[in-house]
Amino acid sequence: MVIFKGAAEVHSFLKKQTENNIKIGFIPTMGALHSGHISLLKNAKSDGMLTVCSIFLNPTQFNDKKDFEKYPISTDADIELLLNADCDVLFLPSVDEIYPEGTDKIKSFDFGYLDTILEGANRPGHFKGVGQVVGRLLEIVQPHNLYLGQKDYQQCMVINKLKEILHLDHLQLVICPTLREADGLAMSSRNRRLSDPQRTLAGLLYQCLISIQTKKNTGDFSIVKKECTDLLTAKGFSTEYIAIANADNLKLLDSYDDSVPMVALIAAKIGEIRLIDNILL
Ligand code: PAF
Repeated sequence: MVIFKGAAEVHSFLKKQTENNIKIGFIPTMGALHSGHISLLKNAKSDGMLTVCSIFLNPTQFNDKKDFEKYPISTDADIELLLNADCDVLFLPSVDEIYPEGTDKIKSFDFGYLDTILEGANRPGHFKGVGQVVGRLLEIVQPHNLYLGQKDYQQCMVINKLKEILHLDHLQLVICPTLREADGLAMSSRNRRLSDPQRTLAGLLYQCLISIQTKKNTGDFSIVKKECTDLLTAKGFSTEYIAIANADNLKLLDSYDDSVPMVALIAAKIGEIRLIDNILL
């Protein structure tokens, strides 16, 4: 695995690979890697890509300063994992490499409706930061395929919109399934911050999604939503949202509508730790 810290260096290395007809598969991450990230890498490998992973803890996408300060960092272990998974290139930039003119100067994008609901409504400025960093990383890496986890469903849609805004018609987004722990908890770097008792309860989010899914043909969504909210509250969670939406455009639905593809999405905090998850219905 070749490790680059400079944007210009990785850019010119990858440009040469593309000139030699090698296809680049890019996996952007913020580090604290887990099997979910490695599954993205494996997908890129099985698509025959030269695999490029980035580790960059992007300050502009954290609306909560504490969340940024406490975000787990484990660069040495991450490098080990990437080596074992046969990653070809690791891009490990500093803030200055990504934002040479400062974090205030970088252009931002308008994601419209997508930035007003769910994560957008609960984390103001978050998608602006995601758009900034992903836009910049795509400019540097210029991949053919971009591998993203379904766990961040709304982020995938925002990045798809970014692709449209930037006219990156050649870029293929590959959305890979969420990897889960035995109790259903979606793998996430933030899970490392859960205490043992919190970890025992964290699988409840997935159980809520499963019950929303199970009741889609017979149930009333508002009743299931209330049952889930009550259950989470009783166990000490504070629920930010439990929603169903059209899976193609994320338009929120008040009730089940089997004439459209549906996705159920959930966000809840346990202690200081915010967990999100989703399931296609
Ligand atoms: O999903 C993440 O880890 C981040 O939001 C991303 C896409 C790497 C941008 O910083």
